[in-house]
Amino acid sequence: MTVDEADRHRFLIPEEAAAIRARFGTPCYVYDRGTLEAAARRALAFPNAFGLTVRYAMKANSCAAVLRIFRDLELHLDASSDHEVERALRAGFAPERIALTSQAPSRRLEEFIPRGVRYTACSLLQLERFGAAFPGQGLTIRVNPGLGSGAMNRVNTGGPASSFGIWHEYLEEARAIALKHRLSIHGLHTHIGSGSDPAVWTRVADLVLGLAESLPTVSVVSLGGGFKVARMPGETETDLTVVGEAVRAAFVAFQERTNRSLHMEIEPGSYLVANAGAIVATCLDVVDTGADGYTFAKLDAGMTEILRPSLYGAQHPIDVLAEGRARASVVFVGPTCETGDILTPAPGDSEALAPRDVPRPEPGDLVLIGGAGAYCASMAAVGYNSYPAAPEVMRDGPGDYYEARSRQDLGSALANESGPA
Ligand code: LLP
Repeated sequence: MTVDEADRHRFLIPEEAAAIRARFGTPCYVYDRGTLEAAARRALAFPNAFGLTVRYAMKANSCAAVLRIFRDLELHLDASSDHEVERALRAGFAPERIALTSQAPSRRLEEFIPRGVRYTACSLLQLERFGAAFPGQGLTIRVNPGLGSGAMNRVNTGGPASSFGIWHEYLEEARAIALKHRLSIHGLHTHIGSGSDPAVWTRVADLVLGLAESLPTVSVVSLGGGFKVARMPGETETDLTVVGEAVRAAFVAFQERTNRSLHMEIEPGSYLVANAGAIVATCLDVVDTGADGYTFAKLDAGMTEILRPSLYGAQHPIDVLAEGRARASVVFVGPTCETGDILTPAPGDSEALAPRDVPRPEPGDLVLIGGAGAYCASMAAVGYNSYPAAPEVMRDGPGDYYEARSRQDLGSALANESGPA
């Protein structure tokens, strides 16, 4: 599936963007319920042989309004910290539908596990601590299968250069810890990176199933997230039915080989939310650096709302809503005093500027940044230059919005400051 020019913001037509600016101000995140639900339904239809759990990786977007939509569609959750578990519980998720898969050892296991929260040990230390606290219980282990993937190195979470999960050569050590504490390793989890191509998925499935073969107590295999989404025109999005068929076949072959019918989990983050979000922004200023330089449009949204371009050289569609304007080659930047606060870097190279051909922006113009539902509100440099967090708005249908989180005011940002005057 590719995204074409006309389909960029999918849900947000210019009139609606103007109405949102008038009502909530800019910068402002807007999420679309219909797009979120459609993506969830596609994920729930992922082909599988012996059962499927779709576990939304809530780190992509942990806004309660988004979580509640997925809760009502019966999705499960992948929480990546104690704090995310807390947010999931507050959004009304049953503890049994939340799995804590965290890089950091939990500080709240004694509270969460008796309530029913599921646990994935991501290191031998985590496994040891879980075993000491809850001998005899079942859990999942996250394994680094030795293979990584991802749209760029920064989002690759497998292979020898990645610290995530128990290195696959240490399964013997994991087994010994499990034995010591009478733990049952019933789940095997991997997540090798984000933005992976479909072919990688089949290889991951084979690798993980190979590991499952040496862990006879495993009945659930999670393949993690990382389905590629198409944010920019011309990009190709993962077709879940195609990937799913190949993965399904691998599970069937495993069953024929071992007589074990494994339940499958997938853990998409971006796939479920990326194209269900946009940032409505305003052009604040336009400057240039002379005949041999660049034209820069300064927006009121930048790394304080969307860090992905600065961090990864990630590409997001940017539309200047100005009819009939002459076109120009423009570099879009954010409002902070930071050279890296750039919205249009070269693909995969956050250091290089890549101007876009757009209607020449003027101060006051409305500008839309697309593909902003995943890792934008949840992963921004909020507070830098003391800009407060932007509001998040849910679009329930055409012209039907509610404020899911209001704009942060400086008072609440400073509320925890103390010390002598
Ligand atoms: N499961 C686990 C254990 C993960 O660590 C992640 C992402 C996911 C699932 C979901 O991956 P997704 O389907 O969203 O690709 N912040 C980056 C991506 C790195 C996310 C790290 N973990 C981005 O802006 O694309």
